[in-house]
Amino acid sequence: MSNDGVPKTYPALPHLPAHVGIIMDGNGRWARQRGLPRLAGHRAGVENLRRVLNAAVKFGVPIITLYAFSTENWRRPKEEVDGLLDLLREALDKEVDKLHHNGVQLRHIGDLTPLSDDLKASIRHAVELTKHNDRLIANIAFNYGGRDEIVRAVRSIITEGLPAEAITDEVVAAHLDTAGLPDPDLIIRTSGEMRLSNFLLWQAAYAEFYVTPILWPDFGEEAFYEALRSFAGRKRRFGALDEA
Ligand code: IPE
Ligand code: IPE
Ligand code: MG
Repeated sequence: MSNDGVPKTYPALPHLPAHVGIIMDGNGRWARQRGLPRLAGHRAGVENLRRVLNAAVKFGVPIITLYAFSTENWRRPKEEVDGLLDLLREALDKEVDKLHHNGVQLRHIGDLTPLSDDLKASIRHAVELTKHNDRLIANIAFNYGGRDEIVRAVRSIITEGLPAEAITDEVVAAHLDTAGLPDPDLIIRTSGEMRLSNFLLWQAAYAEFYVTPILWPDFGEEAFYEALRSFAGRKRRFGALDEA
C-alpha cells in the first residue's frame, strides 16, 4: 500500500526468483532507536511478516523461507528467548486461518525437538491445515541452523544404511529440511549485516545475496520489490562462462 491506502503497482520484472530466503534482522536496533525494549522490536518484526507474505503473493514469488530463530539465538537472555517464542506462537495461532484462506502453505524447517509442546502443536497444526495450499509456500526457519540441518541429514542417511558410493549431492539435498524445494535464488538480509549466520548453508551455494540497511520491521512491499529488481539485473554464471 502507498500512504494514501491505494494499492501500489510496480513494473513487471523480466524474471523472478523461484525461492527467496530472508534473514529478518534488525528488530533489536529498531526498538533501540525508539527507546523501546527489544521485545517491542520483535513484536513489530512479527507483525511485519504478514506484510511481506502478502507482498510475496502480490509479486508472484512462489516460495519464501523466513529465518525467524536460529539454533544460536538460544544464547540470548532467557527473557528475550521466551518472549520471542511466545510472540511467534501467538502470531501463528492468530494468523493461521487468514494465511490458509489466502492460499499460503506453511512449512517448518529446523529442529522442533527442544521447543515447548504448545509451540510444537501450533506449528504442526498450521502445517497440517495448510498443506494442500499452492499460492505461496512459506517456510518458517525456526530453531534452524544450517550446520544442525546438515548434521541431522547425515544422521538420517547413516540410519537408513546407505552405502558410501550411494551418497550424491541429490541424496544429501533429499535429506535436508528443504527436500523437494529448489535452492533459494535470492537471499535478502535486512539491517546491513553481511553474513549468513548459519542460514541455508548447503542451499545457498549459488544464491544471489542482497543486503539492505532497512531494519526488518520497516522492510515493506517497496523494499521487497527493490530486492527483486536487483535480482532481475544479476548475471548468474554457476561457475561457467557468460553465453557468447
Ligand atoms: C532479528 O532481530 C530477530 C532475531 C534474530 C530473532 P535481532 O534481534 O537480531 O535484532 P538486532 O540485530 O539486535 O538489531
Ligand atoms: C540471524 O540474526 C538469525 C535470524 C534472523 C533469525 P542474528 O541477529 O541472530 O545474527 P548475528 O548474531 O548478528 O550473526
Ligand atoms: Mg541481529
